[in-house]
Amino acid sequence: MKKRVGIEALAVAVPRRYVDIEDLARARGVDPAKFTAGLGAKEMAVNDPGEDSVSLAATAAARLIQQQSVDTSRVGMLVVGTETGVDHSKPIASHVHGLLKLPRAMRTFDSQHACYGGTAGLMAAVEWIASGAGAGRTALVVCTDIARYGLKTAGEPTQGGGAVALLVSETPDLLALDVGLNGVCTSDVYDFWRPVGRREALVDGHYSITCYLDAMAGAYRGWRQRAMEQGLVRWDSKLPSEQLSRILYHVPFCKMARKAHAQVRLCDLEDAADSSPATPEARDEAAKSQASYDAQVAKSLGLNARVGNVYTASLYLALAGQLHAEGAALANQRIGLLSYGSGCCAEFYSGVVGEKAAERMARADLDTVLAKRERVSVEEYERLMNLPYDAPEAIAPEPGTFRLAEIHEHRRKYAGA
Ligand code: HMG
Repeated sequence: MKKRVGIEALAVAVPRRYVDIEDLARARGVDPAKFTAGLGAKEMAVNDPGEDSVSLAATAAARLIQQQSVDTSRVGMLVVGTETGVDHSKPIASHVHGLLKLPRAMRTFDSQHACYGGTAGLMAAVEWIASGAGAGRTALVVCTDIARYGLKTAGEPTQGGGAVALLVSETPDLLALDVGLNGVCTSDVYDFWRPVGRREALVDGHYSITCYLDAMAGAYRGWRQRAMEQGLVRWDSKLPSEQLSRILYHVPFCKMARKAHAQVRLCDLEDAADSSPATPEARDEAAKSQASYDAQVAKSLGLNARVGNVYTASLYLALAGQLHAEGAALANQRIGLLSYGSGCCAEFYSGVVGEKAAERMARADLDTVLAKRERVSVEEYERLMNLPYDAPEAIAPEPGTFRLAEIHEHRRKYAGA
């Protein structure tokens, strides 16, 4: 029998402060409806320099190990997906490995390709296990990022930060992946980038949306072709994409998931042999179906709307939100997942939700993780944004979390957990 491989459990870490998106809109003299209805945001995570990409990754991974009683002696690979690197050479994975006192006999590395780096790491881990090379061992994949465009920029309401840690194994209680069905699409574009030495990303915002939708169409069509060959979806009275119970998207801001879903449907409507609806305008209208969005996408966005963009972790925050909302109802159902990283690469893959998904998600305690946060004013958010990255305020870490304590002679020191 083919090995079942996938995500056994997950844990989430977010900065301990957030700003209300309507407060931010008012402070910028913008109609709040632009940020709420126009972008789909509610709240935005705000980190301080002590909550860097390492401390968020280590906190998420420590939480995963503690909440799910992970046997660390069986972990053979630790991959960190990030585009918020803290060093050109030393990987975040090595910090996480040290802070968590993980066993020495382990492969550790970071994976970088904008928001796609986490999925690249997940596939490396899944395929390592599926190939048999893992010899029964498990893998930790941690997606960690801080999305930062700067004060008063167009990207400002789409900032955020956090980390999602995934345990990958042959006991995929959350999601058993359809290994090998993945569709991928790459192209060399400058839609979003962060030159070496810059703290803030540069972005060609509207163009980045076009790049996302274009790469996504290629990735989805690649997956659909393989899924059809395997008999998982077919041309039918229901579109192939409608034969997936839910579809989760990379979520730079929540409205993007709505645009992405319309694009997936448009691919199906354009490619269907019976070519109905007949006109491009009618196809566009059918692609934007509110009923399909409500049924297949809307429930995945609960956490993303309250945290903002988490780059590599954003798709996995959507997975967490989806299974938190409907883990029991989705047991044994196939869902689709779309990862996008600027630059750019898109990957569409699928998997079957496990029977223990709800039980595993209950242990992740996501309501408490979010409820513990403190709402701050726009003035306080601006003060935190203006702090130098290398001089963290001396704050004792909350129990179970890590903080950057200081950078001395270019060496980072962490406290906590
Ligand atoms: P903008 O130009 O300020 O906003 O920036 P806009 O004018 O496009 O308006 C946004 C939406 O609000 C529009 O809706 C407006 O109609 C609506 P749409 O037409 O798109 O459906 N709107 C209103 N709605 C209700 N009431 C109102 C109102 N006013 C306007 N009063 C933009 C928006 C997203 C471009 C900007 O925030 C940005 O540049 N963000 C960063 C880039 C980004 O997130 N790109 C997404 C795709 S690329 C990606 O996902 C990769 C990424 O995660 C990075 C990585 O891979 O590493 C970013």
